[in-house]
Amino acid sequence: MPQTRNVAVIVGSLRKESYNRKMALALAAIAPESLKLQIVEIGQLPHYNQDDDANPPAASAAFKQRIADADAVLFVTPEYNRSVPGVLKNAIDIASRPYGKSAWSGKPAAVMSVSPGAIGGFGANHHLRQSLVFLDMPVLQQPEAYVGGADKLFADDGSISNPATQEFMGKYLAAFEQWIARNAATTPAS
Ligand SMILES: Cc1cc2nc3c(=O)[nH]c(=O)nc-3n(C[C@H](O)[C@H](O)[C@H](O)COP(=O)(O)O)c2cc1C
Repeated sequence: MPQTRNVAVIVGSLRKESYNRKMALALAAIAPESLKLQIVEIGQLPHYNQDDDANPPAASAAFKQRIADADAVLFVTPEYNRSVPGVLKNAIDIASRPYGKSAWSGKPAAVMSVSPGAIGGFGANHHLRQSLVFLDMPVLQQPEAYVGGADKLFADDGSISNPATQEFMGKYLAAFEQWIARNAATTPAS
């Protein structure tokens, strides 16, 4: 039986009816038994301030610890102005510092962008990947996930109503499960 992996899911939108949050919850519901997907909230985090590196605010320290404790990270994000939302970048910066003590290092990751638009948040997806390269996170390459038409994707109960998308998400999670297993050895002990 495959080992259980705790996956921290970071949702890049704070909106109550966020399609990205819906997607994160839908993924958690269909994930294989070996993947425990849990949203780690970022809306409560203060703005990152380098002056606080030695003594970070409690919410920032708690968030960083949640990331350190995770086996892998799944980012599910909208695109804001062809890039990542500021709240997501803030969360990334918080858990990356102090320099040399990043909680992200070596964690296997995957990036999914979700948008009502046709391009499916491609710009945000790849801007995020730029940061993850620097943070030394092995990021799932294939399948890529730029999810467009998100406003028509979910049933009232939150499930994915389009069978083709549902099937794709199953394959995506299976690929991520393998990716985590393959890269687990590089994950530093937390
Ligand atoms: C500040 C802002 C900038 C946006 N920029 C883009 C964009 O560059 N590309 C895009 O596809 N959608 C853009 N949108 C539309 C979002 O994709 C849409 O609001 C989406 O529903 C946000 O994700 P959520 O449903 O998870 O909150 C933008 C929305 C906001 C509020």
